[in-house]
Amino acid sequence: MTQKSGITVLGIFVADTAYYADRLPKIAETIMGSDFTLGPGGKGSNQSVAAARAGAEVNFISRLGKDAFGELALSTYAAAGVTPKIIRMDDQPTGAAFIFVNENNGDNAIIVVAGAAGKITTADVEANRDIIESSAVFVTQLEQPVEAARLGLQIAREAGVKTIFNPAPALEFPDDLFGLCDYIAPNEVEAAEIVGFPINSPQDAQRAGDVLLEKGAKAALITLGEDGALYHTSQTSELVPAVKAGTVIDTTGAGDAFIGGFASALSRDMDPLDAVRFGCATAGIAVTRRGTAPAMPTLAEIEAYL
Ligand code: RIB
Repeated sequence: MTQKSGITVLGIFVADTAYYADRLPKIAETIMGSDFTLGPGGKGSNQSVAAARAGAEVNFISRLGKDAFGELALSTYAAAGVTPKIIRMDDQPTGAAFIFVNENNGDNAIIVVAGAAGKITTADVEANRDIIESSAVFVTQLEQPVEAARLGLQIAREAGVKTIFNPAPALEFPDDLFGLCDYIAPNEVEAAEIVGFPINSPQDAQRAGDVLLEKGAKAALITLGEDGALYHTSQTSELVPAVKAGTVIDTTGAGDAFIGGFASALSRDMDPLDAVRFGCATAGIAVTRRGTAPAMPTLAEIEAYL
């Protein structure tokens, strides 16, 4: 059997349109914002860019429209060193996200429309079976159809590839997915949605971690914003502190930075707990910059914090 290497990510690309203001407007209200950015986004795409900048070889399976946003995606992958495994669609636009960023503390709120990537099918995943099977790590989320996520996780699991499932956004998904997860990696909002109780402390996160393990995941990685990330297995439960790399100005890409960094470290056979520390450093740097994919740090920048 050939040596497995690198990462395959299944997910969506969208163009992020980010609006900076001191609060969200009310219904029927218009408020003035202080800034606007347009850049590459989408959780799977951001995770791919984060992992590649953090030193991994990355394949990204997705769909794009034949439009300017689709070209933005391809130029992003060329710059970051991500290998796109993309179907271009004539009849669907590339998706977009509305992102509110609180100009005072970097908090965010998002509406995402998947566009062409919302049409990803299980056939798209099957067509990339070989690259999934030969990867060291497979990563997916819930922004594209869940059947595609399930097939990717199944192919990876059967081939002995480490699986990371980021159940984001917080949508319902079938219970059989838990058993396909080496690592399930929700944030506190997504974890609360799954377990049915709020997560306001590391202790709540540990209880949630227990539930995720009972449901079949081998390990839970619950990100807790400025409280860091909980690494929870049947043998250990460790809260890894967040890395403070500077003033927080935009938290939108934090979760994707964490997952991309973690996946990158895992693909190099790093011990999982050290890989969580690597992910926390990746996220800690990303939140000091504007945007999602454009905020992802390089391997040298991450190593400087470890
Ligand atoms: O996780 C952040 C991402 O979620 C943004 O880039 C936005 O596009 C949404 O997909």
